[in-house]
Amino acid sequence: MEEAYQKLEKKYQEKCRQIDLMKQIQFVTSPDFNLESFLERIMNQVLDLTETISGALLLLNETDGSLTFAVAKGPGSEPLKGLVIPGDEGIAGQVVASGQSYITQDAANDPMWDSNIAKSIDYQTSNLIAAPLIMRGKSIGVIEVINKKNGQPFTHEDLVLLESISSEVALTVENARLLAEARQQSHDLKTLSRLSSILNSNLDHGYIIKSAMEAVIELLRCETGSLYLIDEETNELFFDVALGDQGDKIKKSRLKMGEGVAGWVAQHGKSDLVADTTKDDRWSSRLDEKTSFDTRNMVTVPIKIKDETFGVLQAINKLGNKKPSYDDLKLLEQLADQVAIALENARLYKEQKIMFKKTAEAIVTAIEKRDPYTGMHTIRVRDYSMATAEYLDLSIEVKEWLELAAILHDTGKIGVDDRILRKPGKLTQDEFESIKQHPDHGAEILRHIKELGPAIPGMKGHHERFDGGGYPTGTKDFEIPLIARIISVADTFDAMTSDRPYRKGMERQVALDEIKNMAGRQFDPKVVEAFLKAEQNGEIIT
Ligand SMILES: [Fe+2]
Ligand SMILES: [Fe+2]
Repeated sequence: MEEAYQKLEKKYQEKCRQIDLMKQIQFVTSPDFNLESFLERIMNQVLDLTETISGALLLLNETDGSLTFAVAKGPGSEPLKGLVIPGDEGIAGQVVASGQSYITQDAANDPMWDSNIAKSIDYQTSNLIAAPLIMRGKSIGVIEVINKKNGQPFTHEDLVLLESISSEVALTVENARLLAEARQQSHDLKTLSRLSSILNSNLDHGYIIKSAMEAVIELLRCETGSLYLIDEETNELFFDVALGDQGDKIKKSRLKMGEGVAGWVAQHGKSDLVADTTKDDRWSSRLDEKTSFDTRNMVTVPIKIKDETFGVLQAINKLGNKKPSYDDLKLLEQLADQVAIALENARLYKEQKIMFKKTAEAIVTAIEKRDPYTGMHTIRVRDYSMATAEYLDLSIEVKEWLELAAILHDTGKIGVDDRILRKPGKLTQDEFESIKQHPDHGAEILRHIKELGPAIPGMKGHHERFDGGGYPTGTKDFEIPLIARIISVADTFDAMTSDRPYRKGMERQVALDEIKNMAGRQFDPKVVEAFLKAEQNGEIIT
């Protein structure tokens, strides 16, 4: 009677504990929920219930059928955590494949025992039971408990107990996993949207490529990313940039069309997932050998515009010993769409800018034709200005405005009478007053072209003097736009060194001395310094 009562009491206690186990699910909804520590808590309860010392929970990776040690508890089990093993090996593999539990009283001598795993832990496994985690008729993993606390072998009752817990564990784990996945997806979407706006915030090709790489690493949580573009002339793939520790070494690498996984994706215009590079025939280790980089797995997607592939985006080595999934592939495809749009916009913008510049050059050349003695003046002023700019720490954007302003700086001369413009001798005061209007005329003609932006004030101020004695407004020092201060030096140097019908051009050194002498009076001293540096380095070519 007493014995029957004790049995009943034990059963009641077990049920209570199982209910406790199910209660764990409430933690799933807490805002600081973490799947790993949640699974650890579940495992602790299972060890408690089964009165065992060690245990592990392995989850099946649907992409490649491998098993990951999501939790490993007990003495010496630390190295197992996160370990990925082939899904068809050992007792765990057998349990997952068959969907049947397994019991062994002498694990070390069991034919199913995986001695490789045993070697990685410093702990003697004598007896073990393992039960599959089954959801909707499919194995999602396996739970193992090892060595009973009382040193006794596992009994059939223990097995039944583990099986009864395992269905609850499966349900809890699956729910937790689904919720964690949903959370991850929502987080990924937010990240994708943030990264997309970064990508599309700038029209500079280099900036987009670099941001795309950073986005791959952040979004896919991987070791490194790479972006290849297709060189249409050679039909090869080339890197523009690569990030991560090995980034510098692989920066300049090229691949043939069809070579390796990236080449395959470029050729076929299809995405691809390689969970294990050693098992993929297309994998080309050529780059790894060159960089001593170990590529274990990768997701590769094409970068397309209107169905035409012009590049490839790659996420290499998922962090935390994980394998990439098809969700990762879909996510990378979405990022590649954004990268494609950003790169295409940058290309169109660049094309438009080139066309704009060429048009400006053509118009200015036509204006110059009126005065044969100033031939190529504009081109030289542009070249001197750009050479000076290299020593002034300017942004790419400012340099672009400078180039346009330099090309257009004398556009206003179109409004000056031919007789004055071509007059071989010295100008009268009135004639000079007429010439002095050309910066204003130029600004007036071009003011409706909003794309010229800061180039217009830059152009308008090219005859202002640093000391305020210039024209058309008499503005001084740093109130004169920097672009104008640069063009001013370049323009004066060219005027001094060019021949005129009524005088010969100055000797180069005399002109340089004159420029130096006028620093702080006619010119901004910093610009003069930059101009002279460019000249010393042979970059002011007359
Ligand atoms: Fe001028
Ligand atoms: Fe000029």
